Amino acid sequence: MARDHGFHPVRITRVVDETPDTRTFALDARFPYRAGQFLTFKVCGTLRSYSMSSSPDTDTEVCVTVKRVPGGLVSGWMHERLRPGDTLEATLPGGSFCLRGDVADRPLVAYAGGSGITPVFSLVKSALATTRRSVSLLTAHQNTDAAIFREALDTLAARHPGRLTVRHHLDDRDGLVTAETIGTLADSDADHYLCGPEPFMALVEDTLKSHRVAPEHLFVERFTPAAPEKAPATPPEPVAGTVTVDLRGERRTVPQRPGETLLQSARRAGFTPPFSCESGDCATCMARLTAGEAKMRVNNALDPDEVAEGYVLTCQAEPTTTDVTVVYED
Ligand SMILES: Cc1cc2nc3c(=O)[nH]c(=O)nc-3n(C[C@H](O)[C@H](O)[C@H](O)COP(=O)(O)OP(=O)(O)OC[C@H]3O[C@@H](n4cnc5c(N)ncnc54)[C@H](O)[C@@H]3O)c2cc1C
Ligand code: FES
Repeated sequence: MARDHGFHPVRITRVVDETPDTRTFALDARFPYRAGQFLTFKVCGTLRSYSMSSSPDTDTEVCVTVKRVPGGLVSGWMHERLRPGDTLEATLPGGSFCLRGDVADRPLVAYAGGSGITPVFSLVKSALATTRRSVSLLTAHQNTDAAIFREALDTLAARHPGRLTVRHHLDDRDGLVTAETIGTLADSDADHYLCGPEPFMALVEDTLKSHRVAPEHLFVERFTPAAPEKAPATPPEPVAGTVTVDLRGERRTVPQRPGETLLQSARRAGFTPPFSCESGDCATCMARLTAGEAKMRVNNALDPDEVAEGYVLTCQAEPTTTDVTVVYED
């Protein structure tokens, strides 16, 4: 069945203050979703994704939880403007930061920093409700005031004694999370779920790797694009060719660079193209190739018909012909 990438109206039914800078918005939405997935909202023409903090297995409402980023366009707008009864435009749920169905009793360990607790909270609730897996959760926040879902997690742990262990890490009390802390949870027989700020994620990923946790047992959700890889000591062989980008009626051409995605080329051309997950899951970055060809590293968002019509996920597509032209359609 073709995927629906369109925007649909969703009405806000309830707004809950979780912490001084974090709010949950309950939505009047009737779509199916999986724990850990997100919605992409269109606010004043800008696209942003927010994960469901609710669980389809335990909660009757669909909720997203938004931490206000200082100076943040969309999170600020949602905090200042959104009230019960208001309507927003959102895509259907997307994303693959989800529980696997084939894991029997494999323990689950989750690491959440700041607003990264949002999809993790959903996953933990579903794992407890639908499996017999034991769950260990490390949440990290700057201080008690910033600890999103602290009470709800303690209540959940009390309801599941022996199955859910929650460790609340507070930076002002415990210092920054260290590799030693992560190492105490790095069970190579477990599935590990990770979401948080980039330095926290880098620390957890490196520590789990050094404790021989296999990549297929590590599930990662990034709220911000991963830090760019360091430039190689020897520059890559230049590629003869061009990438032409057409965005909102303006057309610019840059030389091709090996290993660069069309999204990166578009940014290098001086555009601010649409994107959200940068991992091939949401289709926010989709555009159509009108000349040349490109290969997607990952495609969890476009259906075969769309691919046949020339659509690509620009965050995943690398040119495979000398000259390519990509058009972002409104
Ligand atoms: C798949 C996915 C799921 C997400 N789920 C959630 C969620 O459940 N809850 C939630 O609060 N956010 C979530 N985000 C992040 C969210 O989409 C926005 O990036 C965030 O709210 C900032 O958007 P903004 O328009 O307010 O800020 P912008 O105007 O885009 O940014 C303002 C400034 O803040 C910086 N910034 C941008 N994003 C972040 C960030 N996440 N943390 C710190 N600094 C940032 C920017 O570099 C810039 O300097 C998710 C992102 C993705 C890709
Ligand atoms: S930004 Fe989400 S698929 Fe490209």
